[in-house]
Amino acid sequence: MSIAFLNGDYLALETVRISPMDRGFLFGDGIYELIPVHNGNPIGFNLHIDRMKDNLSAVEINLDWTHDQWRKICNKLVDKNGAGNLAIYLQVSRGVDTKRHHAYPEGITPTVFGFTSGITASQENDRTMVVPMKISSAKDRRWHHCNIKSTALLGNVIHFQQGQSEGNDETLLFNVADEVTEASTSNVFVIKDGVVMTPLLNNQVLPGITRLMLIDMLRKDGSIPIKECVVTMSQVRDADEIWLSSSTKEVVPVIALDGDIIGNGEVGPLWEIAHRLFIERKFDY
Ligand code: PDD
Repeated sequence: MSIAFLNGDYLALETVRISPMDRGFLFGDGIYELIPVHNGNPIGFNLHIDRMKDNLSAVEINLDWTHDQWRKICNKLVDKNGAGNLAIYLQVSRGVDTKRHHAYPEGITPTVFGFTSGITASQENDRTMVVPMKISSAKDRRWHHCNIKSTALLGNVIHFQQGQSEGNDETLLFNVADEVTEASTSNVFVIKDGVVMTPLLNNQVLPGITRLMLIDMLRKDGSIPIKECVVTMSQVRDADEIWLSSSTKEVVPVIALDGDIIGNGEVGPLWEIAHRLFIERKFDY
């Protein structure tokens, strides 16, 4: 039985009830985090909580819980749900109101919900064993605050589903200037002539924790140059390798985009180096 957290209580997940007057339900008015846990050890815990606190201030939800308070809740969720490979999902909505009115209401208490679900272990660090992805591309039609980890994910859901409907695993997104932003549930790395490029952070891109950790690891290691820069769709189509990153999938190679092969259609050698760094160093964060 899965145990969830709701506003201070630990309950069987299927018994948790949230009011339809919750602004998370009515407006998608909330933010969320997803923290990976491998064999009982969280990855990037403080970085995830830092981002959540930044997001809470960005949308003016007043909840000043400390890192320590969040850590206690997460530890308890892990204790109660088994110490395997889990994603801890945390959502904070603005709370339950008595009426439906767009303005932020005064004096309501945020709703805090958490639960865990199983995720897969790290992939084999072997180009012949890893399960690579084939992906679609689409013009990014999401809102203009993609840097906020908002629970209003309909735009992302529509984009992800497009890739699935085309028989692919993810959808890569580009803006009106034909520059890559990110993918519907992941950040993007594009590799050409031995150099790794990833789109700059701005309002069109979620500052992914996996992205942040991978950039830091590559910079500290120094063997592969990494640049945060504008990356155009023509550079993407001409890439030697493409990788996607997220807390649940870590760093995954892409071998096809819109039905065309990337590089020589096989998982590239730099992926193996970057992935090895990631799996060796992920618990340092
Ligand atoms: N999604 N970009 C988008 C749009 C995302 O939804 C995610 C993660 C990322 C990667 O961020 P991070 O490395 O911090 O997980 C980038 C999570 C996993 C989700 O919504 O389930």
